[in-house]
Amino acid sequence: MSWERVVSLQELEQKTNALFKKGSKHIAVFKMGSDIWAIDNRCPHQGYPLVQGAVEECVLTCSWHNWKFDMRTGKCLTGGDNVRTYPIKVEESFVWVEVSEPFKEELTQTILEGLKTAFTKAKYGRASRELARLYFNGMDPTLAVKKSIEWSYEKFKEGTTHAYAACADWLRFYFENISNPENQIICLTEAVDHMADDAFGQSLVAYSKEAEPFSEEAFISAIEAQDEKKAIALLQGALGAGFHFKQLEKVFTHAALMHYNDFGHALIYVIKTGTVIELLGKEVERFLLLSLTRAFCHMTREDLLTEFKDTSKYSSQNSYESLLEANAKNFLYFDSRFEAAYDKPVSDNVGWLDFTHPITFANAVRVQCQKYPEFWKQGLLQLSFFQGRNLPYVDTAQNVSSWAVKNKDHFFAQCVEKILDHGMNDRTQAAHLLKTFCAVKEEVGYAQNEATQKMLLAALNRYFHVPIKLKHVRRAARQNMSLVAKDF
Ligand code: FES
Repeated sequence: MSWERVVSLQELEQKTNALFKKGSKHIAVFKMGSDIWAIDNRCPHQGYPLVQGAVEECVLTCSWHNWKFDMRTGKCLTGGDNVRTYPIKVEESFVWVEVSEPFKEELTQTILEGLKTAFTKAKYGRASRELARLYFNGMDPTLAVKKSIEWSYEKFKEGTTHAYAACADWLRFYFENISNPENQIICLTEAVDHMADDAFGQSLVAYSKEAEPFSEEAFISAIEAQDEKKAIALLQGALGAGFHFKQLEKVFTHAALMHYNDFGHALIYVIKTGTVIELLGKEVERFLLLSLTRAFCHMTREDLLTEFKDTSKYSSQNSYESLLEANAKNFLYFDSRFEAAYDKPVSDNVGWLDFTHPITFANAVRVQCQKYPEFWKQGLLQLSFFQGRNLPYVDTAQNVSSWAVKNKDHFFAQCVEKILDHGMNDRTQAAHLLKTFCAVKEEVGYAQNEATQKMLLAALNRYFHVPIKLKHVRRAARQNMSLVAKDF
């Protein structure tokens, strides 16, 4: 215990409050009638001095933005974060405050409770503050991401979302920014916030604990039949038998490529899941694999759509790099008038993400098929789907010369700056900036052909700089009116 003599009782009675400072510690002491309270002087909202707040009964109101705190417990009654309170005693006509630091476990618990509130309410600012508290109290801030996965995995009722995929890239950025704590807090806040947003307002859809002996054939059949109950039971069996992602990666890759799933997201999610497990450890493995399995049972199978049924017209190209180049060319020459249009049929609702996906998918195909070459055929075929599908929305007559990148390293550094201060309110769009950047960077490093490299860089440059239409008000009204006009 460490007691500090802070103010005489007489002085406190005259002024009703007092401020005690020692090092970085600033403590506000208040007296109302026979009650005396001591709390942190910095308001947990924006740091203004609470000693200047108004006290009524046992409630303190911060003068700046009206947050209210119960002085007895520090609980925030209006606003967000709680404030720390300190034990006091009166001895020899002086007020004494006990200032020793709380135990680390206790502090971690308090911060995580705050984070969970921020997560449940999808409050970006508070999540950022709780992450900063983890950092400044010498705790591992990635704990916040682990917890966010635990709080979200049963709320994603259709399994893995972009939030987990983006989490992998944010974590990579986090570990690459070891010497820049501000960038690190950005990365983790973005990861946590995206999960919080996807989980917001969703009720829990618990996973069954039932387990069956695992076999790859049975797992593939269950996914093919979109039988979530069976697939989850088999996965539980595998996890119970001591399987980890590494042993299951191949069967997940196989399952992802059985169909042209959700425009390639299935395979991208396999890689990103593996990355998160690798970076955060086995604690999150079960949550992520259950979520991935659920996603596989819910994904749309675009290869069953009429436009993809005749695969022969898309399968003529059989070289990865030429398909990469073709998709990069589509990306660079995307006719963005389609994105702005509101007078076209639903089938022509295309936007920038239709052109970033082929690149992130190509990256996933290349990485997984180098590992498991038996899947090249499906991977390349599906990559050709992207190329064929996007071609009608490309305008190669447009002048794109201004997007050429002269200095690759400088350009990448600028992209990172933009990602770390993206200014977008739409998490999915921000996640796509990030994942497209990561995929392009890797494929530029891999591609042998200089033309492919240039195409990828120029396309990314254009994507990072053009305004993107994020909401289609008139298009939605026009298409929906046309749809419902045919009802009944
Ligand atoms: S700083 Fe106290 S409420 Fe904003």
